Amino acid sequence: MRDFLKPVAAVLFTHILPESIHRAHNMNFSIEERGNPNTLSYRLYFKNSDGKYISPFHDIPMYADEAQNIFHMVVEVPRWTNAKMEIATKDPLNPIKQDVKKGNLRYVANVFPHKGYIWNYGAIPQTWEDPGHKDNDTACCGDNDPIDVCEIGNKVCSRGDVIRVKVLGVLAMIDEGETDWKVIAINVDDPEAKDLNNISDVRRLKPGYLEATVDWFRRYKVPDGKPENQFAFNGEFKDKDFAIETIKATHGFWKALISQQTNAGELNCKNTCVSEGDGPFCCSADEAKAVVDGSCPCGEASPVPNSVDKWFYYAKN
Ligand SMILES: *[C@@H]1O[C@H](CO)[C@@H](O)[C@H](O)[C@H]1NC(C)=O
Ligand SMILES: *[C@@H]1O[C@H](CO)[C@@H](O)[C@H](O)[C@H]1NC(C)=O
Repeated sequence: MRDFLKPVAAVLFTHILPESIHRAHNMNFSIEERGNPNTLSYRLYFKNSDGKYISPFHDIPMYADEAQNIFHMVVEVPRWTNAKMEIATKDPLNPIKQDVKKGNLRYVANVFPHKGYIWNYGAIPQTWEDPGHKDNDTACCGDNDPIDVCEIGNKVCSRGDVIRVKVLGVLAMIDEGETDWKVIAINVDDPEAKDLNNISDVRRLKPGYLEATVDWFRRYKVPDGKPENQFAFNGEFKDKDFAIETIKATHGFWKALISQQTNAGELNCKNTCVSEGDGPFCCSADEAKAVVDGSCPCGEASPVPNSVDKWFYYAKN
């Protein structure tokens, strides 16, 4: 029997960190699964500490601690797994679900020597890469998603964990003409977090990891018949300060989105904590519960196809 109600306890610290003193309050989130795992029906919904359903895109605060520049990260893909799980930006309550291509569940290919995602991968809530905004540095518009994060700590997180991260740098990936920032961060609860404060510390303490990260993003879509991805800044990582400014800019785009200053297009901006009661994006607790109640009931998991384990080999250009 699987646990359908599983606490996401990562927000509770296991050892006392200096920054924890400055935090206004403890935020606790939990998850609830619906549908059948490894099928099109699978969904992962989020609840707050009062047990009310929320949107992980809009209702989880971007900052875990603004004064210390500690951000929340919603873990979508645990390290070494392949299922391309993501916050469903166009669905009510924005549950995590698996990306679908041509009717098939999407798994990222293993491009040698990588196995699945090589970090815990996810997004910073309350951010948005505006497709109507052309970035000055990349000369490309946003990809219409919250900003992505690669968390480089030792722990393999679980899907749906909401963790607190320290930002270390950022890579400016260009995916088919769209800006798709990849923030590099570390879980503040990682034993090494105190030694990692900037991108140069990653290079020094985790040799090869940044190079592997660029290689991963450059080639991960090649097995799907796509061209290699490109990068602004000649594929070099920008430092912590640049990364924080980039995140803040995407928070500004999200604010414009949620306050209807920018057209939401197909995005679902319903939220339970942010918008005023009379606004179009406001979702009552009852309405949120009805969304989850209306989703598929929980059921047996389907097996993951063996083809997901295939390793792909390419000569480097
Ligand atoms: C972006 O570039 C334009 C034109 O060069 C400039 O006017 C504007 O201030 C720049 N914006 C930012 C945020 O740097
Ligand atoms: C981060 O490192 C860069 C050089 O890589 C340096 O210019 C910058 O001041 C550092 N930032 C912080 C916050 O330490």
